[in-house]
Amino acid sequence: MQDLDHANITAAVNATWGDGTDPRLREILEALVRHLHELAREVNLTHAEWQQAIEFLYQVGRKTTRRRNEFILLSDILGVSSLVDMLASRGPDGATERSVLGPFYLPNAPMLPVGGGDMRRDNPGEPVLVRGRVYDASGRGIGGALMEVWQNAANGLYSNQDPDQADDNLRCRLNTATDGAYAFTTIRPVPYSVPTDGPVGGVLRATGRHPWRTAHIHFRVTAPGYDELVTELFPADDPYIDGDAVFGVRASLAVPFRRSDSAELAAAHGLPTPFGVVDYDFGLCPAG
Ligand code: BEZ
Ligand code: FE
Repeated sequence: MQDLDHANITAAVNATWGDGTDPRLREILEALVRHLHELAREVNLTHAEWQQAIEFLYQVGRKTTRRRNEFILLSDILGVSSLVDMLASRGPDGATERSVLGPFYLPNAPMLPVGGGDMRRDNPGEPVLVRGRVYDASGRGIGGALMEVWQNAANGLYSNQDPDQADDNLRCRLNTATDGAYAFTTIRPVPYSVPTDGPVGGVLRATGRHPWRTAHIHFRVTAPGYDELVTELFPADDPYIDGDAVFGVRASLAVPFRRSDSAELAAAHGLPTPFGVVDYDFGLCPAG
């Protein structure tokens, strides 16, 4: 019979994983048990508190659907999603840092022409030109990369949250030119609140945390032979630049939305003056 106590129970549980267990699964399970047990010891967890934690996870599951995943939101506000992004971002110098995908991505957005396209259409808000290059580790432009872009409208909502917007509003796809160049027009995104009508919203309220995400434009960049890049760009002067509710901001992704009065550039991209300009180059990592 095992002589179990609060000190040796961790090793006893970790001794139960069978010989055929996948080594990576075993590594993760062992660490999970070690850290969970250590948490319980450190805070001297009571029955009532553990029951409350289990009830909370049950409510997170009840709130979750295919379209609204409260577990992802929980991972986001605990910084786990961003930590996993950071661990995956340790690529070669020059590779763009990753940031959260978020729940509002939709595939198959309208394709814009190579060299410059109009995602702004007739949206109210500050007009902006976003332009730059997609390049590889040696600094060479990657032609034919697929860039997917999505963001919220001036009312703070994404098209798939708002029946008053066309399904493809403020979403686009484009291919980079042979030298890796891209350009598109849009409006300046605005900060918005993560959903607070579920148990995760309860955690934010109970802990005095605000639910606001720093304004951002989402990007997904793919090209054959390179790792997929999912990231975001943030206006460096956004009021929430130092307080993103999901910890997505990185210094390298906070960019100036520079004011331009250039009538020539405005005419070339169908924009009124003045308008904002964002210059940003995306570095991809070789696949692997
Ligand atoms: C978003 O970027 O759209 C988002 C990310 C995490 C939680 C909620 C929204
Ligand atoms: Fe977003």
